[in-house]
Amino acid sequence: MAKLLTIQGGKPLQGEVHVRGAKNLVPKSMVASLLGSEPSELRNVPEIKDVEIVTNLLTIHGVKVDRDATSGIMTLDPRETYSAEHSEIDAYAGDSRIPILFCGPLMHKNGEAFIPDLGGCRIGDRPINYHLEVLRNFGAVVDKRATGIHISAPRGLRGAKLELPFPSVGATEQVLLTAVLAEGITELKNSAVEPEIHDLIAILQQMGAIITVYTDRTIRIEGVSRLSGFRHRAIPDRNETASWASAALVTEGDIYVRGAAQRDLTAFLNIYRKIGGEFEVDDEGMRFWHAGEPLKPLVLETDVHPGFMTDWQQPMVVALTQAHGVSIVHETVYENRFGFTQALTRMGASIQLHRECLGSNPCRFGQRNFQHSAVISGPSKLSGADIDIPDLRGGFSHLIAALAARGTSNVTGIEIISRGYEYFIDKIAGLGADISISER
Ligand code: EPU
Repeated sequence: MAKLLTIQGGKPLQGEVHVRGAKNLVPKSMVASLLGSEPSELRNVPEIKDVEIVTNLLTIHGVKVDRDATSGIMTLDPRETYSAEHSEIDAYAGDSRIPILFCGPLMHKNGEAFIPDLGGCRIGDRPINYHLEVLRNFGAVVDKRATGIHISAPRGLRGAKLELPFPSVGATEQVLLTAVLAEGITELKNSAVEPEIHDLIAILQQMGAIITVYTDRTIRIEGVSRLSGFRHRAIPDRNETASWASAALVTEGDIYVRGAAQRDLTAFLNIYRKIGGEFEVDDEGMRFWHAGEPLKPLVLETDVHPGFMTDWQQPMVVALTQAHGVSIVHETVYENRFGFTQALTRMGASIQLHRECLGSNPCRFGQRNFQHSAVISGPSKLSGADIDIPDLRGGFSHLIAALAARGTSNVTGIEIISRGYEYFIDKIAGLGADISISER
């Protein structure tokens, strides 16, 4: 039965939450363990749906996965890996985007891979053309079938000279996970350099890979013939941290995020401070609160790292509905990441979407008729509404809006939020929110 979350808004969120390993790193580290000839240990693993999906996918391929939810310690033993039945893999169709990253490791282990139809948030088309193109360059043969993609490497995988049309996080990970055991040298130009990519590189290096990152977004990988296991503590989830920071700002609250780290949040914290948020850092985490003055409007453009990340955009838009004046947000990573603003408008926010690029960052969407710029006029009094969660970050933003709004909100589709936010209901309740859960 589907769950209904009822929120009586208007209470400042106050207290402490604990953030563990990054959703956008942990499942990929789990895939990396497949490349090893020995077991690996991953720490700081959160209890989120994407971890569960990858655990199941690894298990059906013969990897023994043990995890302790409380300590966050997971062990992965890939020594008896085998090809899984297509029907078993297909059970995970539409659940996540991570299965595409199994291609390289499974081809190295078994000579072939089968990838079901992918899932993930509907925030744009999210094609996999870069992934398939780089895999073909390594020598893979791609066979698209009705149920998914069969991919094989009849003559093995060889290093290649590659360049991405856009610094895609997923395609960069695809190259790393394939190149480390490919024969010869791979050079990838225009790669993504997000902190989660650096953490994955650290893991692969521990396993025995030889990877060099240059300052011009070039990554060079010297293939080796064997990799061992790794022991690694995943970096904290900077997107979850930014979400709680935004929740503190919008509800005029005060939240200490245990486990958060400042370093990978530079672009976020600059904007947070400019709009009127404050933060403090200690050895255990970070505290976020509303500085007390009226919030200020600003111009914001999302970008690849080290820019303002697209995953921070949605919670920040909710904060901008409370700023005094007109703000502009230009989304340059995904063509369709403003769908969530419809619910905010119903709650009383004033947000207009535009097809033009309202900013100066290079962008692929201005000429292609996508509503990818937003003009937000504030401050708006938000009122409770019936909300059906559309995607992960948009959904969390709706929660923030409902927690700040006057009146009652009835929220459905909250299962989507557990894909990336562990124990979020308990956390919101622990921060003093007036909520209840029922079955529908
Ligand atoms: N793209 C293509 N072709 C491809 C791959 C990507 O055109 O083959 C395009 C995408 O459509 C998008 C852009 O390139 O417009 C960037 O996509 P990227 O590949 O970087 O994204 P991703 O790897 O699919 C990860 C995160 C996202 C995060 C982005 C950007 C995971 C599981 N997901 O997605 O996280 O927004 O990088 O940093 O790591 C989220 O956490 O809510 C989330 C969506």
